[in-house]
Amino acid sequence: MDQTTDPKKLFIRTYGCQMNVYDSERMAEAMGGEGYVEVSSPEEADMILLNTCHIREKAAEKVYSELGRFKDLKDAKPDLKIGVAGCVAQAEGEEIMRRQPMVDLVVGPQTYHRLPEMVRRIGTGAKAVDTEFPLEDKFEVLKSRPKGRRAPAAFLTVQEGCDKFCAFCVVPYTRGAEVSRPPERILREARELVERGVREITLLGQNVNAYHGEDAKGAGWTLARLIWALNDIEGLERIRFTTSHPNDMSDDLIEAHGDCAKLMPYLHLPVQSGSDKILKRMNRKHTAEDYLRLVERIRAARPDILLSGDFIVGFPEETDQDFEDTLALIRAVNYGAAFSFKYSSRPGTPAAERPLVDEDVSTDRLYRLQALINEQASDVLEGMVGREVGVLFEKPGRMPGQMVGKSDYLHAVHVSGEGIVPGDLRRVRITARAPNSLAGELV
Ligand code: 5AD
Ligand code: SF4
Repeated sequence: MDQTTDPKKLFIRTYGCQMNVYDSERMAEAMGGEGYVEVSSPEEADMILLNTCHIREKAAEKVYSELGRFKDLKDAKPDLKIGVAGCVAQAEGEEIMRRQPMVDLVVGPQTYHRLPEMVRRIGTGAKAVDTEFPLEDKFEVLKSRPKGRRAPAAFLTVQEGCDKFCAFCVVPYTRGAEVSRPPERILREARELVERGVREITLLGQNVNAYHGEDAKGAGWTLARLIWALNDIEGLERIRFTTSHPNDMSDDLIEAHGDCAKLMPYLHLPVQSGSDKILKRMNRKHTAEDYLRLVERIRAARPDILLSGDFIVGFPEETDQDFEDTLALIRAVNYGAAFSFKYSSRPGTPAAERPLVDEDVSTDRLYRLQALINEQASDVLEGMVGREVGVLFEKPGRMPGQMVGKSDYLHAVHVSGEGIVPGDLRRVRITARAPNSLAGELV
């Protein structure tokens, strides 16, 4: 590239899960090698990339309406390139260009390493579509440069795809079969992150606890083994992982929650429903009782662990009694946080063939479920007042002199204190709670 030309500007908007956040970072770094710098508004950009989510119906529709809004920008700047990445790209492929002809590039989640080459191709006025499932490790091929300083908390993808085929879910189709990255590459990436200022790593995978990497000697690694190896990295202070399936909570992973000092006391463990009938129809392959017993074992290993979950209300043929069973399970578990959704029918999934629950009934159930979860989350927050917790500081707060960080339990904590800098991990006594966060003072 000619050193005197201005860098080209890339705007990325990310939808959906944390894996998309990680992917967007990798794509931005790869585009850095093509002379692009990231900007924070679409108006400034020479290229706009939407990294999309297909998990629920509204997510895909949002992408199309977002694309529509870029029309004026494209009219004003005909050279502007527009790309769609992520799971909507995977699911819709060329259909996106048919519905929205101003799109230049469509790239699925498994071919991001081909993005620089695709961008060069669309530079000549061509269109580019790639939604293959190639065999190579895209993160190895993605050349990340330049390597700057990183924020204290980072994501690291260790596993992608899912073989579970829950009856409502598109992930096995959009992200493909389960693939685990080799442990050596993950450990190397973790060490690089630490050198760049990272103190906390969240291991990502659609089914992260099904991780089954193979090292160069052909030995198999579980997620627990990987966590123990990360635990040895000097300078790395905290380890988390998400998202887990109850059936893959192996004994060594449960034990790690008790024994591994850097593994944080927070676990996202979706159950989706508390009704055995619905769980069976969802193809979850566990009962409500199985889940409750598992929670007991996890809490025996780590009594203070904070649990979060995902719930779907209004799954086809969910009755009032099924929904009551879900509320009963929530009461039995006592969550610190949860994500809850109205069932959204996804074409091509088995559940899409089943009769729908009335929309108003689903809405009502969602409100009731969220009210219960909010009550539990609020009680958990209240229970933190007076306790001493670790806080990893990330950025300045809104008040002068104030810093914000995350507690071991993933609560946002505000502390006013001279001399705290991002990346500091300090002991903090919690003194007060706000609706969704905590305040405290350095110990
Ligand atoms: N409808 C509603 N929610 C869904 N999820 C996945 N697929 C659907 C769907 N078709 C939810 C699940 C999952 C979370 C990531 O999204 O609760 O755990
Ligand atoms: Fe989807 Fe998770 Fe079920 Fe896999 S385990 S099919 S990602 S809901």
